[in-house]
Amino acid sequence: MPATIPRPPGVPLLGNVDAIDQNAPFQSLHDLAKKYGEIYELEMLGAKRVVINSQALMSEVSDEKRFSKKIAENSTQLRNAAGDGLFTARLPEEKNWYIAHNLLMPLFKPDKICNLADDMMDIVSQLVLKWQRLGPDAIIDTAADVSRVTLDIVCLCAILNSFYRETVHPFAVTMSDFLLESTKRGARPQAVQNLLVAENKKYEDDMKTLFKTTDEILAQRRALGSDKQDILGTLMYGKDKETGQGLPEKTIQYNLLTFLIAGHETTSGMLVFALYYLLTHPEAMRKLRDEIDTTLGGRLFTTKDLNTMPYLIAVMRETLRLSPTAPARTVAPFEDTVIGGKYPIAKGESIIVNTYSCQRDRKVWGEDADEFRPERMLDGKYDTLPRQAWQAFGYGERACIGGAFAWQEAQIALVTIFQQFDLAMADPNYKLTVKQTLSIKPANFFIRATPRADKP
Ligand code: HEM
Repeated sequence: MPATIPRPPGVPLLGNVDAIDQNAPFQSLHDLAKKYGEIYELEMLGAKRVVINSQALMSEVSDEKRFSKKIAENSTQLRNAAGDGLFTARLPEEKNWYIAHNLLMPLFKPDKICNLADDMMDIVSQLVLKWQRLGPDAIIDTAADVSRVTLDIVCLCAILNSFYRETVHPFAVTMSDFLLESTKRGARPQAVQNLLVAENKKYEDDMKTLFKTTDEILAQRRALGSDKQDILGTLMYGKDKETGQGLPEKTIQYNLLTFLIAGHETTSGMLVFALYYLLTHPEAMRKLRDEIDTTLGGRLFTTKDLNTMPYLIAVMRETLRLSPTAPARTVAPFEDTVIGGKYPIAKGESIIVNTYSCQRDRKVWGEDADEFRPERMLDGKYDTLPRQAWQAFGYGERACIGGAFAWQEAQIALVTIFQQFDLAMADPNYKLTVKQTLSIKPANFFIRATPRADKP
């Protein structure tokens, strides 16, 4: 028997627009999941979206024979800057995705990413120097400092440019504003959008700044020639083995922006959440530090140490389970179908995979699913989870290309920080609030960093 998918009460024309807080859509989706359960639907400005919130449904819609990624409304806005770049390309029609994907996949394999470890270490050591110089009394804006590191890592490792500076780079501010406004625009009726003259002007100006920056990077790179076969060099000069085709100029620019956008906020959010969870769980922090000290005995982290510290990996997995920094993705079925054995979904209809709620499914993670407990990822438990229970990097053909990059970067950053510093929250009563642009991260989370007196 087909079942009716529950829908929160809405208003004529706007539907459920009011049910979603545009500054924190992930939180609204999660609150509705707590109220309506594993599935509900929303009608936003006449368009229906089904939201799924359980591991079972997330696993079902990960079947690539039945479902594929759909470019959702906020991503449609993002396409203004990222076009047919990897993240926002529409398949199968936008063929440049296949070219870029085939060209870049080999560069993102873990053994190739290893070659970037020294550069990643260098940039993380700049953060260490800065925190040492600031001293124990300074109040550190964690997200700002960590984002500077992850932006510079993606710039230096993928693009060969350094953006590092003591204050937040204006490009990062522009990008963050652009992403936030893209999300908001995705939920506004066109008539309302047209009235927002100042917002529209800023959005257009921000986009011009983004394109101007990428134009400059591409010009600098062209002047260097085609020798360097790194990520940008491959995008600019690579030829697809199957078709012999390269990427058009505009698509190179779209992909460059895609890497700047997708490659830094998600990882910095992950690192800041990890620091937040560790600082609010001193026992976990102690275990992590013991593991680092025992494994490395005070020497620098090298690529040989990657993935050798089980507690560190468990902390990272548990952080991204509770706070997947890309908290949702959208898919649609190729044909009319039924999910969960009873919920009918029409061909092409948007299904929001609410990763944030799915990864807190009590049927999988137990009654303490909302608790930070890295132990649930230890001793082989991660490997025996039900299918697709942990999907922080998405799934299948459109899964994150930068997973190994982020995984390596996060290990280097966390190990180095805990080797060097005793961390404390600047405000011991800090209550977690989350800022959302395209990704999520803790807001106003300030710390103090004291150089460790007990280094091994
Ligand atoms: C796609 C998460 C880091 C580049 C994705 C997707 C997720 C994700 C969930 C799939 C989105 C969808 O299905 O709509 C994350 C997380 C990260 C991270 C949680 C860090 C903790 C990175 C890094 C890079 C990167 C470091 C690049 C250096 C991309 C790109 C795509 C993507 C290009 C689009 C792939 C495609 O569709 O072909 N990411 N990501 N990401 N990510 Fe990441």
